Amino acid sequence: MAKVSVLGLGNMGSALARAFLAREHQVTVWSRTAHRAEPLRNVGAAVATTPCAAVAASPLVVVCMMRYPDIDEQLGNVDAITALRGRTLVNLMLGTAAEAWAMEAWLHGCGATYLDGAIPVFPDEIGLPGTSVVFAGDVDAWELHRETLASLGGRNEFFPGAVSGPNVLENAMSVWFLHAALLALLEASGTARALGISQAVIESRAREVLEVLGRGIPAVWDDLASERWVDSQATLDVHLAALETARIDARDAGCRSGTLESAMALLDDAAEAGLAGSNLAALTAWIHRNG
Ligand SMILES: NC(=O)c1ccc[n+]([C@@H]2O[C@H](COP(=O)([O-])OP(=O)(O)OC[C@H]3O[C@@H](n4cnc5c(N)ncnc54)[C@H](OP(=O)(O)O)[C@@H]3O)[C@@H](O)[C@H]2O)c1
Repeated sequence: MAKVSVLGLGNMGSALARAFLAREHQVTVWSRTAHRAEPLRNVGAAVATTPCAAVAASPLVVVCMMRYPDIDEQLGNVDAITALRGRTLVNLMLGTAAEAWAMEAWLHGCGATYLDGAIPVFPDEIGLPGTSVVFAGDVDAWELHRETLASLGGRNEFFPGAVSGPNVLENAMSVWFLHAALLALLEASGTARALGISQAVIESRAREVLEVLGRGIPAVWDDLASERWVDSQATLDVHLAALETARIDARDAGCRSGTLESAMALLDDAAEAGLAGSNLAALTAWIHRNG
């Protein structure tokens, strides 16, 4: 049984604290809004009255407020900095690469070790065997605390290399790609509904399209690895023409099409650069070259 403190008890912080309690760790919690701690007190957590007291209570301090600057606001005082010495702070908030580097430097200056982490799931999935929280930073701190942190997910990973890795990966994949894809789906289904397709049919077709996407993306990566820029599937021109017809449907239906238009702008630029007859692997290589 390890001692662990959790600072920040919103939806995610509360789920983290519950997961540690479920594994019978000795959990101390702190929340800016005091009443958020009460449900956790009722299931065995000790409640600290200040963030500094929460840090002092455990060698492992998990922070899940909202943004990185909240750490400075709550722990950037002499007492908290003194309490941090010799402890490991695990920051599970979403942030940028630069924020992760700065946080690592600041905690080293405090005499603490640092693990940055990213959570790719909703609170309901915290603590499940299939959940993978990604950590990076101090490898000794990871080895020391990985068993306790396993309370949060059965498939946790340590990301070798820069401490910014989890944020960069999370921002690119779970936030940018997933959110953009989700919003594209919402916009696209808006047009389909407006033009008479039922929600049930949309859902069924969307499931099939997800499967096509799942098969198609690895094929693009294969082409990329083999530097195969033309294939017998679809040229960028064909993708562009398809987007154009969808945009006309959206316009005729009076619906939004912003995600589609940003995809069209990308393809227009690539076509202007001479890629109209090429495949999606060529587009990928071009995007990578053009930053
Ligand atoms: N929810 C998810 O699905 C999910 C998934 C992955 C990652 N995350 C990350 O987890 C973090 C928390 O998300 P959440 O869903 O738990 O959000 P939430 O339910 O809105 O809770 C945010 C918590 O942060 C606290 N907070 C905000 N500013 C603060 C400050 N300046 N000082 C102290 N406490 C402060 C709030 O305290 P008060 O109660 O006092 O307002 C609240 O308890 C975010 O970085 C988010 O990106 C969330």
